[in-house]
Amino acid sequence: MLSEVYDKHSNIMMRRPIVKKEVVDFMRNEQNQLSGSLKILQEFAAEYNVPIIPHETIVYFQMMLSLLKPKRILEIGTAIGFSSLLFAEICPDAEIITLERYEEMIKLAEPNFKKYDSRKQIKMLEGDAAEILPTLEGEKFDFIFMDSAKTQYIKFLPYLINNLSGDGLLVIDDVLQAGDIFRPLKGTPRRQHNILKALNKLFEVVYSDEKLQSSLVPLGDGILLIKCK
Ligand SMILES: C[S@@+](CC[C@H](N)C(=O)[O-])C[C@H]1O[C@@H](n2cnc3c(N)ncnc32)[C@H](O)[C@@H]1O
Repeated sequence: MLSEVYDKHSNIMMRRPIVKKEVVDFMRNEQNQLSGSLKILQEFAAEYNVPIIPHETIVYFQMMLSLLKPKRILEIGTAIGFSSLLFAEICPDAEIITLERYEEMIKLAEPNFKKYDSRKQIKMLEGDAAEILPTLEGEKFDFIFMDSAKTQYIKFLPYLINNLSGDGLLVIDDVLQAGDIFRPLKGTPRRQHNILKALNKLFEVVYSDEKLQSSLVPLGDGILLIKCK
């Protein structure tokens, strides 16, 4: 059962927002709400603790993607298909490729795509991104969203930078770990150490690369925006 897989208390963002709680509540409750199939999936995710993007990030993507109008989108981390379906709704002309390795999520995403991907924009590639990304060499995407295992972000980064089209934008989700990335490892839970080390390495690599332009935005658990200069 999904409810067993996703422990309610494992979603640190629900407990430790990186900006004031009142601000998060306002962004979640007062900004435009979803309707239709996306609302159904958002409610399903809340009920079963599936970690989809939070409402403040959804609203930000609605603004950003309606302005950027990407034609090709790549996503690492499909889960139940919520964010791919959001991208499909915002960008009706875009082709979307999304990668997922977890059988249970694939089984949930498939019927969601069948039912709600009315323009057949989304293609899900099943398997580990570590194996799939090398096969996408030479493919270009205008928007890439990396929302998978945090320890692997640093490993996937070089592939994704190569996959960006000229003005393409890479967005990496959940990079702040509720602020633990700034803290000495000693004061943080041991089980988080590999994630914290890998995310710190990610910032180090991105910030020291003169060819990259980046911006860290405190939405959800922090999103890092990256483009090539
Ligand atoms: C946070 S969820 C994605 C949520 C989704 N982007 C949304 O907002 O609707 C992360 C997903 O990435 C998948 N994942 C993690 N590491 C992966 C990898 N190396 N390759 C493919 N999928 C991966 C997990 O199985 C999980 O379903």
